[in-house]
Amino acid sequence: MLPTNESADDAPADNLPADKAPPEHVSTSSDSSPRAPSPNGRANAAEDSAPTSPPEAPTDPAMDPKLNIQDLHFWYGDNHALQGIHMDIQPNKVTALIGPSGCGKSTLLRCLNRMNELIEGTTMEGTVLVDGQDIYASNTDPVMVRRRVGMVFQKPNPFPKTIYKNVTWGAEINGYDGDLDALVERSLRQAALWSEVKDRLHTSALDLSGGQQQRLCIARTLAVEPDVVLMDEPASALDPIATSKVEETITELKQDYTIVIVTHNMQQASRISDETAFLYMGRLVEMNPTDQLFTRPEKDRTEAYVTGRFG
Ligand SMILES: Nc1ncnc2c1ncn2[C@@H]1O[C@H](COP(=O)(O)OP(=O)(O)OP(=O)(O)O)[C@@H](O)[C@H]1O
Ligand SMILES: [Mg+2]
Repeated sequence: MLPTNESADDAPADNLPADKAPPEHVSTSSDSSPRAPSPNGRANAAEDSAPTSPPEAPTDPAMDPKLNIQDLHFWYGDNHALQGIHMDIQPNKVTALIGPSGCGKSTLLRCLNRMNELIEGTTMEGTVLVDGQDIYASNTDPVMVRRRVGMVFQKPNPFPKTIYKNVTWGAEINGYDGDLDALVERSLRQAALWSEVKDRLHTSALDLSGGQQQRLCIARTLAVEPDVVLMDEPASALDPIATSKVEETITELKQDYTIVIVTHNMQQASRISDETAFLYMGRLVEMNPTDQLFTRPEKDRTEAYVTGRFG
């Protein structure tokens, strides 16, 4: 269960400023705000061409989804960026989000830990459940949500501090009273960085290579003990060797975490993910086990995209 406001006083959010109540323009599943206006009474061209009923995500009846997304809509002003997404994300799996630039992958990712509500002029409708709990409910604290659902960004963004301080930052803000040395070692081991930095923990994180910095950012996210880790193109700025290290790390992490990763790299999606969701113009076109989506896609549009005929 996600903690609520009662227990949230000490919560940090990785990479985020201390938070505030949701701005008024954010409508949630728990209120009845009207839908944002759409220009000309319609959202955008995707509505004309998209399927009338949303595709069902595959479900394993034996397993409750870690994340359950129901009829999720998101607007930047009048731009209807997400148009009714339904999706179940299974625990201890890697789920890849793919689709052409601007289709809404990052927007969807940010809806999963309430980061979008930090952007002015936006509106959301729909429901996002983590372990069955509505993360947009009025008694759910957004800072706690972002701690339980951590995020790793495209560009490594270590703080200008030591490697050690980067990892302990969230825990220290949180008043962590455990063994910080142990926390640092555990987090760096989980991020597959420990052996490379264990003798230089008190040197600047900015002296690490790009791939090491990205794994440090993964370690920093893990140090606040999230359940879910969101990654937005975490390897797109890295060379092939650093990329394969980050991919190995992700594959290891799924034993303990649920991972949702945005990638433009089809090979990467097929190497590391269990499920893949293909988005197009703000809609979920198809979500299936990765092997199936790449080799036997159900939808023509998915096939065209994965075979490189458009995108
Ligand atoms: N901060 C923002 N303010 C206004 N509009 C935004 C913002 N972020 C995204 N958008 C718009 O929302 C739509 C979806 O963008 P999003 O960044 O989610 O796409 P994406 O699939 O992640 O693309 P890419 O692969 O290029 O990263 C686009 O039309 C984009 O212009
Ligand atoms: Mg993006």
